[in-house]
Amino acid sequence: MTAKIVIVGSFNTDLTSYLDRMPRPGETVGGDKFVTGPGGKGSNQAVAAARLGADVTFIGRVGQDVFAKLAYDIWEAEGVNTDYVIQDPDHATGVAPIFVDSSGENMIVVVLGANLNIQQSDIDSAKDIIADADVLMVQLEINHDMVGYALQVAKDMGVTTILNPAPAAELPEDYVKLADYITPNETELETLSRSDSDDVIANAKSLLTTDSQTVVVTMGSQGAQIVTQDQEQMIGTFNVDVVDTTGAGDAFNGGLAVGLAEGKSLEEAVKFANATAALCVTKPGTAPSMPQRSDVDTLYKS
Ligand code: RIB
Repeated sequence: MTAKIVIVGSFNTDLTSYLDRMPRPGETVGGDKFVTGPGGKGSNQAVAAARLGADVTFIGRVGQDVFAKLAYDIWEAEGVNTDYVIQDPDHATGVAPIFVDSSGENMIVVVLGANLNIQQSDIDSAKDIIADADVLMVQLEINHDMVGYALQVAKDMGVTTILNPAPAAELPEDYVKLADYITPNETELETLSRSDSDDVIANAKSLLTTDSQTVVVTMGSQGAQIVTQDQEQMIGTFNVDVVDTTGAGDAFNGGLAVGLAEGKSLEEAVKFANATAALCVTKPGTAPSMPQRSDVDTLYKS
């Protein structure tokens, strides 16, 4: 069965500098390499899911500028449906200057441009595709009203919803409760749960408003922590050589969406997502580092 995934989200052009170490405020450091490539959390997740074999529709906005071509090039190459992408006449394509140091850690600035101008009508025009989807997934690089609207539209149609609350932001509780799965990292979890504590389980539990909701906290090299009203389970990840962690969270979410849409159990879907993220960090870049299905299957079964 081919998984059908709809992503309402962002595209950014990633402007990535690879450095020995991050600069301190006021300091200039030399870099080793500079790469321009396709990114944006929503688009990265779309590419991840498409490479895993899913039928993916992307709903979003880019500008009418040279960076938009990068978006269409990767979506076409990966077979992502762009029927509901709009080239906004008034806003530039999102950009993300990124620094990656020699340990693979990253720092990212996003200038979201057209991503912040998604309208209800963009989502409404795709209602037939959403109704037919297994999973609708959103992140927080678009205007937050549209995060809530997209979740509501999918929920009303009985479509499974994933909220990846990245980058970290507080969201109205009414939006969070529309998500069947909530997938923060630890920092995003603290922000979303408005907590000063670093207690992952307590923070995750505070987000659960119904029996059917699940929080999956991504915890880097430790793996991912599942938290529901009556389950707390850590799913360990795979040991790999880390080159660049940028996009790992997006790979995880793409993998989770596909795993769930294919009918895997929650534990197996999280393991599949861990394998997708583990392979992503072994390569530089974001969308270009998303792994192929055969490689994920091999690691997942290992
Ligand atoms: O998650 C990684 C992504 O965050 C990058 O591709 C960048 O565009 C930012 O959106």
